[in-house]
Amino acid sequence: MSYPSQIEKQLHSALQQTSVAGDLPENLEVQVGPATDSRFGDYQSNIAMVLAKRLKTNPRALAEEIIEHFEPGDICEPAEIAGPGFINFRITTPSLESGLMAQIDDSERLGLPQLSDQESKKIVIDFSAPNIAKPMHVGHIRSTIIGDCLGRISRALGHEVITDNHIGDWGTQFGMIIYGWKHFLDQAALDEDPIEALLTIYKKVNDVSKEDDSIREECRRELVKLQQGDAENLEIWKQCVELSRGSLDKIYDLLDVKFDHWLGESFYNDRLAPLVEELEKEGHAVESDGALCVFFPDDPNLAERAPCMVRKKDGGFNYATTDIATIEHRVNEFNADDIWYVVGAEQKLHFDQIFAIAKKRELETGLNFIPFGSILGKDGKRFRTRSGDTVSLTDVLDEAVERARKIIGEKNPDLSDDEKEEISKIIGIGSVKYAELSQNRLTNYIFDWDNMLALKGNTAPYLINAYVRTRAIFRKLGHEKASILSN
Ligand code: ARG
Repeated sequence: MSYPSQIEKQLHSALQQTSVAGDLPENLEVQVGPATDSRFGDYQSNIAMVLAKRLKTNPRALAEEIIEHFEPGDICEPAEIAGPGFINFRITTPSLESGLMAQIDDSERLGLPQLSDQESKKIVIDFSAPNIAKPMHVGHIRSTIIGDCLGRISRALGHEVITDNHIGDWGTQFGMIIYGWKHFLDQAALDEDPIEALLTIYKKVNDVSKEDDSIREECRRELVKLQQGDAENLEIWKQCVELSRGSLDKIYDLLDVKFDHWLGESFYNDRLAPLVEELEKEGHAVESDGALCVFFPDDPNLAERAPCMVRKKDGGFNYATTDIATIEHRVNEFNADDIWYVVGAEQKLHFDQIFAIAKKRELETGLNFIPFGSILGKDGKRFRTRSGDTVSLTDVLDEAVERARKIIGEKNPDLSDDEKEEISKIIGIGSVKYAELSQNRLTNYIFDWDNMLALKGNTAPYLINAYVRTRAIFRKLGHEKASILSN
């Protein structure tokens, strides 16, 4: 049992012996969390304050009473009170020692608990999911790294995890790309850097179509042709997908991120028309101004918001339609107990709506939206290049490795070139990943190279250094058991 849950149990028994024992609410949750300031202990609980407020009594006096009855056993020192009534706990050295030894002896799992078959779930994790034919930008790092990490942790705990890269490989942007491919394609540029060339095409069409309605109309026609299965347009689309896939694979390789499936938006195409018909028949979707929409009159959170459109006036389907089909597939084909979506906070309404629709359709699955804040530049605005463009993810990763290489060159000039290369990759990519994971997921964070690569503080280089030195100590002791890098 973990320290917090053991202390929680001991607190429960202590509470039973206090003068408020008879007034304790049923299902009382006694929470013990890490101490905010390690000078006062390792863990803390605010239970005395929470209870005192409810029972209208003095929190400090209640805390005194609780610690009087608290039996620390072998695991902690006698509890102490701080401030208005926090109770602090410090773990004893012998308890930490025996815990660490037990972890080291468990060379397979290092003491990580393993979920039982009943507890283990089948979880589909939807993350990364860039829109293709555009380069991945720095914002994609958040979903990619958080999603990958959730997958690894869940697997290690004993869940069955299916990772699915739901790429945006269908949609209105292809009308413009196909038009551009037919009119502005520069084959040499495409051979050299496909994604960059596709982006150039896209930007050019975007520019010219702004000034010329007839071009916009042409793009729309190209899109309709694609959707109706026109052979030439399908072939262009397929090439764009393949070219993009190649460049995405390079980034995922560098990040060591793998997906079990790549069921992008296009995978669900054939399912959309019948699905929308079903939604209409089931009475979930109704016509509104020529479009087909789902309203949520009974949902206090959604009733006042815009409805969820599942078919446009022109007969085309929406982002939401595909996501409804996707949930269905994951429930029926993957038998998912849970589906987790690691997507930016700005898509909250979309997910609230499609989750509500899944509920209306009685699809039995746990649906979880896992949002995150944005990456900001040092000026506190969205992180952009000097010219105001979004920052490409490849550029960020290249620069991270380059900066690490420079530091290594200065600190360890005698390493061989191969070693320098390998270590700069570990430290550079590790720094970007760790900068991501060490933040509060929900708040915005400031992208700062110097902090990220600093040798001191809560950074990857510091942790990697500590790890390497610890390994060296074990090596000298002849005890090479503990290795955590293999996962
Ligand atoms: N392609 C989308 C975007 O870039 C993210 C997709 C997230 N997953 C999903 N099932 N909708 O905004």
